[in-house]
Amino acid sequence: MIVIVGGGVSGLAIGWRLAQAGQNVTIYERNKAGMESTWAAAGMLAPQIEAEYGEEMLLPLTMASRKIWPDFAKELEAETEIHIDYRREGTIQVSLNRDEQEQLDHRFSFLSRNQLEVEKLSAYEVRRLEPHISRAVTGGIYSPQDHQVDNRALALALKIALQKAGGILREQSSVEEIVIDEGCVTGVIVNGDKITVDHVVVAAGAWSRNIPGIPEISRPPVRPLKGQMLALEMPENAPLIAHVIWGPGNSIVSNVYLAPKSDGRLVVGATVEEMGFDKRMTGGGLLEILRSAWEVLPGIYDLPLIDSWSGLRPASRDDAPILGKSGIAGLTYATGHHRNGILLSPITASEISSYIIEGKDSNLISSFGVGRF
Ligand code: GLY
Repeated sequence: MIVIVGGGVSGLAIGWRLAQAGQNVTIYERNKAGMESTWAAAGMLAPQIEAEYGEEMLLPLTMASRKIWPDFAKELEAETEIHIDYRREGTIQVSLNRDEQEQLDHRFSFLSRNQLEVEKLSAYEVRRLEPHISRAVTGGIYSPQDHQVDNRALALALKIALQKAGGILREQSSVEEIVIDEGCVTGVIVNGDKITVDHVVVAAGAWSRNIPGIPEISRPPVRPLKGQMLALEMPENAPLIAHVIWGPGNSIVSNVYLAPKSDGRLVVGATVEEMGFDKRMTGGGLLEILRSAWEVLPGIYDLPLIDSWSGLRPASRDDAPILGKSGIAGLTYATGHHRNGILLSPITASEISSYIIEGKDSNLISSFGVGRF
């Protein structure tokens, strides 16, 4: 039996693939599945626009996942009849003054140097594509392959797909300890009972570091990185924007993004804050997100604010995920996805399920082991 600790997008997707392969798999989720960072995300599948300087080693993995996303979405929708709102308009990053334009030009060179498909846009071209963008816009970068989905619908679909394939989901059930005997996983303790297992996958997001039983030295070094978000309601049949738009941020918002969903929500984020497990919304958080978003898209001023929430990104020390072997037989990691959990879910699922079934990791994930720390 395989146990997955954590019912977020990674745990659910791995569980689905394992169940499809005929494995006996149970996911233990301490609350409700898909309700932490999976719920909090914006659903952007944007390896290019999310690419950070100095993190080029991530690109083969994020690009490989983006490549398989369309088929993953199709299969999931066919399997579950849940529409996950896969949208292909692409992403536009804009600048609003001369300094930002220089940064954008620099970013364009960085993306082009890495052979990523991006197009430079003049201010006129940005406003032709998105007429509601601020008149202050000086230019943009268009990333046509950086798509998006509805992450909340995705979680629901994965939950159904997992169960249809024969996987078991136990919600409101914490793994209280992973039992390790002589360097090998033998069980998990749930509700005080020991369950004998062959394999455990830790996919518990920001909580992955704190699961009892794993020796200190082998724990995945993952910490919570808070992101506050909000949603506005766009007029029915007259959405303000069609593309995902990225713009400059300020203070605790490094970049602002606005992701239009087909149900009329305009999802706007996000702060990036080292606040431990404190998920409370703050006045400053909302203010900075709204101010940055309004500078890019002034028309949001009149939109009803319909929701606000925060989530905890599972961040590792190098912002890359921690995938595969843990140094303990029968214990695998699938955590630390930082800003890219939704994007990386298909590749995490296929790579980790193959690793468990075949017992060896591929070139794609071998450099993302916990051993690198
Ligand atoms: N991927 C968006 C975020 O982490 O805010």
